Amino acid sequence: MNILILGSGGREHAFAWKLSQSKKLGKLFIAPGNAGTSDFGTNVAIAATDFEAVKKFVIENQINMVVVGPEDPLVKGIHDFFLADAQLKNIPVIGPQKVGAQLEGSKDFSKQFMFRHNIPTARYETFTKDTLAQGLKFLETLEPPYVLKADGLAAGKGVVIPLTLLDAKAELTEMLANAKFGAASAKVVIEEFLKGIELSVFVLTDGNSYKILPSAKDYKRIGEGDTGLNTGGMGAISPVPFADENFIKKVEERVIIPTITGLKQEGITYKGFIFIGLMNMNGNPKVIEYNVRMGDPETEAVIPRIKSDLLDLFEGVGNGTLHEKTFEVDTRFATTVMLVAGGYPEEYEKGNEITGFDKVVDSIAFHAGTKKEGNKIVTNGGRVIAITSFGDTMEEALKKSFANAERINYKGKYYRKDIGNDLK
Ligand code: AMP
Ligand code: GLY
Repeated sequence: MNILILGSGGREHAFAWKLSQSKKLGKLFIAPGNAGTSDFGTNVAIAATDFEAVKKFVIENQINMVVVGPEDPLVKGIHDFFLADAQLKNIPVIGPQKVGAQLEGSKDFSKQFMFRHNIPTARYETFTKDTLAQGLKFLETLEPPYVLKADGLAAGKGVVIPLTLLDAKAELTEMLANAKFGAASAKVVIEEFLKGIELSVFVLTDGNSYKILPSAKDYKRIGEGDTGLNTGGMGAISPVPFADENFIKKVEERVIIPTITGLKQEGITYKGFIFIGLMNMNGNPKVIEYNVRMGDPETEAVIPRIKSDLLDLFEGVGNGTLHEKTFEVDTRFATTVMLVAGGYPEEYEKGNEITGFDKVVDSIAFHAGTKKEGNKIVTNGGRVIAITSFGDTMEEALKKSFANAERINYKGKYYRKDIGNDLK
């Protein structure tokens, strides 16, 4: 099979790495890809959201399946675009159609969905510019801190957690009256703050059956001790030690099954990944959010732990035979440490040469923001390289990831040295 992966980060490099191990793979293309993905396939200079260009490429190169990495093309309807086109409609797209993608594309939709299906989540209300006054009143009924979420996609910046009522009111006003996040904050979800430890569980589904992928924990803030600005993710650990069989069983019964059956009941055909962001509240899971894709950098820790053929699983997603597929997971720990550019997540430099790939031992260096410039590999994003290692214990895996984090070099390199500390 010829496969086209859409996206350009560490997640897509991990997909390319894994799919290239499949006997079923013919040609692999990545649009637009990065310097790492080009080791496993051909990078194509097409933006993941340029549907017409994707169509032309898919037809000309006899692509048999499209794997969508990021949420943007899904929320914009790439799967629907394929289904509506006579030449594309039989080519499976891994990722939901627009209506299902609203689980990530609209916080209000996803909260309503959870309440319709009795899925445990924080209490909430949604407000618009016209109901700002009620929103300000609603804030007064809550305890601090306050959780304000722009309804639409806001490049990961749409969740604000003010500590005081005064700040919360000012923030709500900014979002609704002054369109702080543009159209994305035309509606704002205000919800109760959940206290606990966060983790993520990933599901791959063909719309009927599902496989529960390994759990993972992400490290979102730039600074050690989880301080400072939010980032796309600074590291990941899989499995999450406290997410034992008993906890995952609760997640399956209370969240995964009601989500899959809820989608079906509502006539939403969902083929792809569901990323369930959870809060562990005294052993009980509550959903913080859904994403309609894999996480990054969680993918770089989760995918290497899957022993089964990912392409075979994707084929099952496409043709509705996922229940027939075997699904095996490596019991070892995988840890991912993200090397980022100095200054990230604020302004940072691009184009700095990266060296030391040949010195990496016992880890996989997944490229996130890199590109080739002649014979050199240079930085091309805030998150640059994700270093994944295996170990029988988390500590052993982390030791390898940190050792190799030192072997890769570029001007401005920064990484968090406390990944996993909270789980020890
Ligand atoms: P989201 O974009 O929905 O993942 O939100 C970003 C981050 O905000 C989450 O990863 C949590 O750390 C935090 N968060 C979101 N909702 C809540 C909540 N109800 N209670 C506590 N923290 C939250
Ligand atoms: N690492 C968080 C995300 O992919 O959304």
